[in-house]
Amino acid sequence: MSFAKKIIEWYHDHQRDLPWRNTRDAYKIWLSEIILQQTRVEQGMPYYLRFVDRYADVLAFANASEDDILHLWQGLGYYSRGRNMHKAAGIVRDMYQGEFPKSYVELIKLPGVGEYTAAAISSFSNDEQQAVLDGNVFRVLSRYFGVETAINTPAGKKIFTQLAKDNLDRDYPALYNQAIMDFGALHCKPKSPLCGECELQLDCFAYTHGMVADLPVKIKA
Ligand code: ADE
Ligand code: SF4
Repeated sequence: MSFAKKIIEWYHDHQRDLPWRNTRDAYKIWLSEIILQQTRVEQGMPYYLRFVDRYADVLAFANASEDDILHLWQGLGYYSRGRNMHKAAGIVRDMYQGEFPKSYVELIKLPGVGEYTAAAISSFSNDEQQAVLDGNVFRVLSRYFGVETAINTPAGKKIFTQLAKDNLDRDYPALYNQAIMDFGALHCKPKSPLCGECELQLDCFAYTHGMVADLPVKIKA
């Protein structure tokens, strides 16, 4: 069975029920992904719910004042995220007739949207074949495939980007991306990963080589 299928199988039994997963609305997915960029799921959830309740679509969001947005953002920190969101919403209103873009190439142009966020939104909203690469994914890939190149180097970035791409489930990119994120967050965790009950253990390089605690490699800046 492919790596992707194994991850998806795990997800079927262990997935978290998160509100932004029950929608294909790119606006709502964008809101969730920006909030979760530097914020934990438990902390970000009430903010997400308040934002979608207050601003049902991107036009409502864009037409609010920046002060209103930043007021609702209060407590999340990194206020540049809130300011960039307001800018991005204005662009969607003015350049996309209020239709939130769903393609990676359009999304990546929006302020506050980087490679990870563009991949997440385009796959979740439109099943575009884009692999997400965040801390969770770096960890899972480095352990399973035994990649010892430091994740925070240009060489590492290149290797892991390719590895993420090669292992994306081409038929179910959204499902696979959500699955590997949860697998990293809940199972193949930074500390005390659940290797003993892991369905992937016999194929996992780090586990079979006694290197789980050593991966991923990160060099000090
Ligand atoms: N962290 C960032 N994006 C996420 C998502 N879609 N689900 C769970 N955690 C996340
Ligand atoms: Fe992660 Fe351990 Fe499973 Fe390997 S065996 S994938 S390190 S949880």
